[in-house]
Amino acid sequence: MSKVLTIGANGQIGRLFCLKAKDAGLSIRALVRNDEQRARIESQGLESVVGDLEGDFFHAFDGCDRVVFTAGSGGSTGGDKTLLVDLYGAIRAIAESEARGVEHFVMVSALRAERPLDAPPAMRHYMVAKLLADQRLIESSVPATVLRPGRLTDEVGSGRVRTSVAAGEGFGISRENVAGCILEALRRPPTENRVVDLLDGDTPIADVFAAG
Ligand SMILES: NC(=O)c1ccc[n+]([C@@H]2O[C@H](COP(=O)([O-])OP(=O)(O)OC[C@H]3O[C@@H](n4cnc5c(N)ncnc54)[C@H](OP(=O)(O)O)[C@@H]3O)[C@@H](O)[C@H]2O)c1
Repeated sequence: MSKVLTIGANGQIGRLFCLKAKDAGLSIRALVRNDEQRARIESQGLESVVGDLEGDFFHAFDGCDRVVFTAGSGGSTGGDKTLLVDLYGAIRAIAESEARGVEHFVMVSALRAERPLDAPPAMRHYMVAKLLADQRLIESSVPATVLRPGRLTDEVGSGRVRTSVAAGEGFGISRENVAGCILEALRRPPTENRVVDLLDGDTPIADVFAAG
């Protein structure tokens, strides 16, 4: 049976995605970092597994044919964690996905990751980590969707997004809309790799991913 390994399932997007996916009837395995998180996730009727991107997590892939990566070291840790989690953790997850013949890998990246030097100086190393992880995924044998959201907000999801930056428009997108985009991307096996910028907008999420 098809199962989606969700890496970063205890995160803000991860939690929203797992619940949406469960409601949509997808089978999810949530990768979390400790037993307390595991108990909370399982109380919501979701399957979970404990693992650490800085250590052992390959057992989490058993029986999973699709992967969502929405983990991140966050703004309160240093550059060392950006390297170890956002970059090397992602690269190891992609390599394991290749080895296991995963059928679709959805990566939550960041808007403008392709241009790290355009970011504020304090963000450049993070953008480099995101860019290199995205490149490793695109060059892999795993069918890939790379989602590049703008500044994340906690607003209620509108269910509508845009996929290009427009002059005079904001750079924000709600985490709930990103979770909805992950779900829609997963619904359709990719015919080719896609990299999709994401901002709140006017286009129904389903339409964005119906296009291929
Ligand atoms: N903030 C923004 O404006 C912005 C914009 C674009 C893209 N993004 C990206 O969007 C993604 C998700 O955002 P979010 O708001 O959902 O982030 P979040 O709430 O910080 O969630 C990140 C998750 O990654 C997990 N994680 C961290 N280190 C780990 C490790 N070593 N092993 C396993 N899991 C680990 C965390 O676990 P714990 O729960 O145990 O801490 C957490 O659940 C991130 O990749 C972020 O870089 C953010």
